[in-house]
Amino acid sequence: MRRAILEALVPSRFEVLHGPGSMLAIRRDAGEQLRRLAMARPEERAATAPAFRGRGPTQCLVYDLHNHRRAVFRPYRRGGLLRWLTRNKLFGAARPFRELEVVESARARGVPTAAVLAVRVDRIAPFLYEGEMVTEELEEAPDVRQWLRREAPAPAMRRAMVRALGEAVAQLHAAGVIHPDLHLRNLLVRAGEPPCAFVIDLDRAVRRPEGPGLGRGRLANLRRLDRSIQKHNLLEGAGATRADRFRFLRAYLRVLAPDLDPRTVARRLGAHYPLRRLRWRLGRWFQRGAAAG
Ligand SMILES: Nc1ncnc2c1ncn2[C@@H]1O[C@H](COP(=O)(O)OP(=O)(O)O)[C@@H](O)[C@H]1O
Ligand SMILES: [Mg+2]
Repeated sequence: MRRAILEALVPSRFEVLHGPGSMLAIRRDAGEQLRRLAMARPEERAATAPAFRGRGPTQCLVYDLHNHRRAVFRPYRRGGLLRWLTRNKLFGAARPFRELEVVESARARGVPTAAVLAVRVDRIAPFLYEGEMVTEELEEAPDVRQWLRREAPAPAMRRAMVRALGEAVAQLHAAGVIHPDLHLRNLLVRAGEPPCAFVIDLDRAVRRPEGPGLGRGRLANLRRLDRSIQKHNLLEGAGATRADRFRFLRAYLRVLAPDLDPRTVARRLGAHYPLRRLRWRLGRWFQRGAAAG
């Protein structure tokens, strides 16, 4: 993609630096240390002994910055059929810059998500790129699955957190953003007074008109989340209850569609995914088999 088109996606509080075959958009207020890390190739950075996050070869790397903050470096990976062939290569350089644009616009509209510090792409062959996004770490904010697994939150905290989650997703939708993959691992929570919830991973998110209502894309997001909750419940037991689901929907609808009855919406979501449940069970069975064998 042409340089000028990419640069047009970069908000003004970022500066754009070009290197041989690479392009970096970095916050103008980024400190010296972040600047050095973002300008280095991943293999040059390895010596800094970071903490890891996520899974697989494309896990995120977390680096300490001087100002007691931490930066999360997330490589872009391909989904779909081509992922085995092309690993972490992107066709074209636009995807990271599009995500930057969506995140910035969402944050400007009050969506609780991680702030972007930098975006980098490296050309490794004609039309083939590697990309990386750097965000500010949301401290002490595990994803919902980890939170449910590690802690047995007190009932009042749990209720407040479920409401915060409903509001966070509603804010995302009110800002016109449809999440590409809204599941429990892309929702982070911070238990506190008040508890906070964040929606992350807006890679491939799409922009739709802002404002209230419950259109197809928004419903599809809620269904995806519901499926993720059912999977968690099935595989790990102590998950979300029916009461949690209503509380979530009530908080969500209060922002987006106060006239709708949560029960009606719950019915519209209400599939039980028999085939997927079978697949999840089989997946777990195979995993156990592999661990034992
Ligand atoms: N800014 C951040 N603060 C805290 N944790 C993060 C942040 N960004 C990513 N993570 C953690 O890393 C995991 C993977 O990051 P994510 O952005 O979802 O990318 P992907 O799912 O494509 O690997 C998240 O589920 C979350 O646990
Ligand atoms: Mg994710």
